[in-house]
Amino acid sequence: MKALVLAGGSGTRLRPITHTSAKQLVPVANKPVLFYGLEAIAAAGIKDVGIVVGDTSREISDAVGDGSEFGLDVTYIPQSAPLGLAHAVLVSRDYLGDDDFAMYLGDNFVVGGIDRPIREFRAHRPDAHLLLTHVSDPRAFGVAELDASGRVRGLEEKPAHPKSDLALVGVYLFSSAIHEAVRAVKPSWRGELEITHAVQWLIDEGRDVRSSQITGYWKDTGNVTDMLEVNRLVLETIEPHCDGLVENSEIIGRVRIEEGAVVRNSRVVGPVVIGAGTVVADSYVGPFTSIAEECLVEDSELEFSIVLRGASITGVRRIEASLIGRHVQVTPAPPVPHAHRLVLGDHSRAQISS
Ligand code: G1P
Repeated sequence: MKALVLAGGSGTRLRPITHTSAKQLVPVANKPVLFYGLEAIAAAGIKDVGIVVGDTSREISDAVGDGSEFGLDVTYIPQSAPLGLAHAVLVSRDYLGDDDFAMYLGDNFVVGGIDRPIREFRAHRPDAHLLLTHVSDPRAFGVAELDASGRVRGLEEKPAHPKSDLALVGVYLFSSAIHEAVRAVKPSWRGELEITHAVQWLIDEGRDVRSSQITGYWKDTGNVTDMLEVNRLVLETIEPHCDGLVENSEIIGRVRIEEGAVVRNSRVVGPVVIGAGTVVADSYVGPFTSIAEECLVEDSELEFSIVLRGASITGVRRIEASLIGRHVQVTPAPPVPHAHRLVLGDHSRAQISS
């Protein structure tokens, strides 16, 4: 069995963070979201992984390399344009051959891994096995309708009037029957070849399409609220650890301080991760905060936020529920004139309390 990891796409839902970087590399607890997927694939006993890449292919291959760090053998498969999940399968035909495969969307986060559904798939060898989960707003997903026996009766992509609240999680298990299906579908209203339609084609052909429901949490990390939520979930599981320097500070609860980081005259209430080379001085860092590498947090208060590499936050209180991009600088304004001064890139969002 192989895996096909999708790491193309434009990441519009995560702008402006993804103007300059791939959405699959946005960190959760200081680790790219894609790495959690690759670890789950390795843990499920799969070694051969094709990664479908687009415009951000260089960044993805710089981060993942040949996959050996994950115990994987990675092959990169270029996709000329983000023309849909079924299109990604089309362009991967040669790599996949007639093998069964797990398709994993590189911006999805599945808590608890994928061992169980893969074991189930291997036991029954259906043509497709879908992972489903209950969601509050199914209109943002592919939605499955099950019959009384739990078989998948029908699927709809982003329906205006969903027939159930069971969303398709971004992990799909396929036999080689999917290749005929992806050749049969036509582009949807959004101009994409939808994998949802390809699986519906299998159902219409009377093929064996099964599903299992994920009981643990998962999040499509497509927007900032979800990013903060998945960051919170992962931080809940970290172990306290200190490879840096702590001076005259109070460290409470599960706090991971990475190599070369310095925490001085501060109060840090976990769960929190502080990345390598970051300095936190004269500050308060509150629960569910991830600060990446080489950042500066000085004379500030920060909570329930994600701060990316090289950002600095000085003299500001108080920042909450925020996603701060790479090399961003947040400072107080001069006392006069009493005005906000903003240099915000395209698609930035600022909420000012005054
Ligand atoms: C895609 C699929 C959708 C699925 C979702 C999971 O949506 O088309 O059926 O529920 O992934 O993340 P997209 O991210 O392309 O909007």
